[in-house]
Amino acid sequence: MNMAAQQIAAVEAFEQDVLSGLSASRKTLPCKYLYDEAGSRIFERICELEDYYLTRTEAAIFAEQLDNIAARLGEDVVLIEPGAGNCEKAEPLLQRLVSPSGYLPMDISPEILLAARARIQRSLPDLEVVPAVGDFTSALIWQRLPATSGRKVVFFPGSTIGNFTPDAASELLQLFAARLRPGDGLLLGADLVKDSIVLERAYHDSEHVTEAFNKNLLHRINRELDGSFNVDNFAHRAFYHSRRQRVEMHLVSLAQQNVNVCGRTFLFEEGETIHTENSHKYTLTGLQALLNSTGFAPRQYWTDNQQHYAILYAEIH
Ligand SMILES: C[S@@+](CC[C@H](N)C(=O)[O-])C[C@H]1O[C@@H](n2cnc3c(N)ncnc32)[C@H](O)[C@@H]1O
Repeated sequence: MNMAAQQIAAVEAFEQDVLSGLSASRKTLPCKYLYDEAGSRIFERICELEDYYLTRTEAAIFAEQLDNIAARLGEDVVLIEPGAGNCEKAEPLLQRLVSPSGYLPMDISPEILLAARARIQRSLPDLEVVPAVGDFTSALIWQRLPATSGRKVVFFPGSTIGNFTPDAASELLQLFAARLRPGDGLLLGADLVKDSIVLERAYHDSEHVTEAFNKNLLHRINRELDGSFNVDNFAHRAFYHSRRQRVEMHLVSLAQQNVNVCGRTFLFEEGETIHTENSHKYTLTGLQALLNSTGFAPRQYWTDNQQHYAILYAEIH
């Protein structure tokens, strides 16, 4: 598929997913659509928030353990990063690795990814950087990756794994495993179960940036799918569901209202919500079990001293 055909397919998929999500008895929208260009920029601001401990904590573990992590990954590695965003986490790792053979970042949001490629090529001019725009949950994008020599390591930081339900996370890791050979690796960053107050503050921050991130999805639907959402008629809600071990993000309708999207009308009752994102939290044992059940043997992990966050390295059996 050429670029134009890919873009048309992406718009069609967005339309189909939004129409089916809003038609469901419990309205929902896939969280990958939060990341258009504006959403990706807002997410960068989230990562800098005091309340959003995830990025800060993961960065501190990387800063402290980078030499150990690089040594663990070994030489001649091809780093594949699904959901790479601005690729800021890969860059120091690539600089520390011994003769990396390539860097293959993937993201659904093209603007930030393509800008990051130019930056990485300036700082690592000898490295082959081949970005891929598309959905990393689809086998298609994995088939489009160039054939490379060297051991492959999938780099999956930022607790993006948490955006998948446990079943979907298991399917996703199996999809990764299917593209890897014995001895290839996975470097995974995941948020751990903790106090619900800390968790809820991260997704309902005092500066209202997560609110802007959530509501941007309605602006996007208005812009791209001829939607008529009055964004002020929806409120941002985020709460920790302890049994499901996840923070759920919703948009709550503040009134009974009709909204048009692509020529179809959807009725919202007052208080009805659109479920826009899950962020699942794991225990260390839960993560190790997930890896073991999807073909990966956990080899090592690193955490902060409060055990708020973990980075795990595993290899295909
Ligand atoms: C939680 S952010 C993490 C970004 C970055 N890896 C980090 O650690 O800061 C998730 C990233 O994955 C991308 N993304 C989410 N779902 C995706 C999907 N299904 N396919 C491709 N990219 C996706 C988003 O655009 C965003 O850049």
